[in-house]
Amino acid sequence: RKIKVPENIEEIAREVGQIAKEMGLRAYIVGGVVRDILLGKEVWDVDFVVEGNAIELAKELARRHGVNVHPFPEFGTAHLKIGKLKLEFATARRETYPRPGAYPKVEPASLKEDLIRRDFTINAMAISVNLEDYGTLIDYFGGLRDLKDKVIRVLHPVSFIEDPVRILRALRFAGRLNFKLSRSTEKLLKQAVNLGLLKEAPRGRLINEIKLALREDRFLEILELYRKYRVLEEIIEGFQWNEKVLQKLYALRKVVDWHALEFSEERIDYGWLYLLILISNLDYERGKHFLEEMSAPSWVRETYKFMKFKLGSLKEELKKAKENYEVYRLLKPLHTSVLLLLMLEEELKEKIKLYLEKLRKVKLPKEKIEELKKQGLKGKELGERIEELKREIMNKIKLAAALEHHHHHH
Ligand code: CTP
Repeated sequence: RKIKVPENIEEIAREVGQIAKEMGLRAYIVGGVVRDILLGKEVWDVDFVVEGNAIELAKELARRHGVNVHPFPEFGTAHLKIGKLKLEFATARRETYPRPGAYPKVEPASLKEDLIRRDFTINAMAISVNLEDYGTLIDYFGGLRDLKDKVIRVLHPVSFIEDPVRILRALRFAGRLNFKLSRSTEKLLKQAVNLGLLKEAPRGRLINEIKLALREDRFLEILELYRKYRVLEEIIEGFQWNEKVLQKLYALRKVVDWHALEFSEERIDYGWLYLLILISNLDYERGKHFLEEMSAPSWVRETYKFMKFKLGSLKEELKKAKENYEVYRLLKPLHTSVLLLLMLEEELKEKIKLYLEKLRKVKLPKEKIEELKKQGLKGKELGERIEELKREIMNKIKLAAALEHHHHHH
């Protein structure tokens, strides 16, 4: 079966095939890239596996394009960039795991052996770039069928034992692609969780996997799977699911979708907000520690602190605020993330919206400020007068907004 190699990688793929031939090697596009190509997704990171010395092939390709190559001889791999393309070349290898989750022992091998050590059938296909059979899909394990049937399936029964991080990977792909685990895969996954393998897995790799998950558009679906298979309980000490957290996550999704659409220029990494809700019931120190492990950006740590110690009283103040200017004053110092968390409160939603859409944009016209200066106002006095005028403008807004609202509905 022939695959149409996407145009943005066609030229490089042909060239890799040509060089492979000249060097007496065989080269293939492999792994997640093949899955994404078959799904019609755009790919800019391309992984090649080479039967023979991948580093030599990469060096020759780099030489022909006049770019740098970064070889890692201990792994038999090399990285290079050609234009927008990020390429990785890996020598086909066989892996044996000395113990669960450990870094594997590696030996050179055939393509098939390289593919069978991988996680799921959909990630274990290859496309030949060799001139004789350029574009041929190599699918030893039924990956194409599983892709069509929307199934995540491990290649062998010890897959999760060899690498427990794959438990989370399975759920990430299932959530991202809206795929199901095959019956046997689900069973093996549950067994692996019950054996406590996640607790033994290298912490850094688990954490990294969660970071990958929170960048996904369908992070919430992934979290639902995390819940179904009770994986976070194994990873985050003291973590428990409950209805309230779940409701908040869904409420957050609505808020986030709204914000991303209405204020696309002000988007933030919303995944962290889901995470903040997840850890909101943990003891402060535990949550803080987890964010440190995740190397959360500083705004996330700040927002977490705020959420734990200040959000409650701020909510009360906001609920009491009757004047627009008061709302403005309370919200102005806050990071977008805090505003979005506040929007989870039904009672506050409209106030936050009003702030984001109107209040924060209120400015006095330049001429007005000039006028005040001419009147001899300056420094603190001028500032106060400006605030006073802004206050007047803001306090008139609500009526306009309310009327507008009325208008829409009737
Ligand atoms: N792989 C594996 N087991 C792992 C991690 C990776 O078998 N624990 C294999 C899979 O074949 C995978 C490939 O290595 O496709 C590349 O890994 P990675 O870049 O992490 O995954 P992608 O499939 O490319 O996923 P993503 O789209 O998230 O980048």
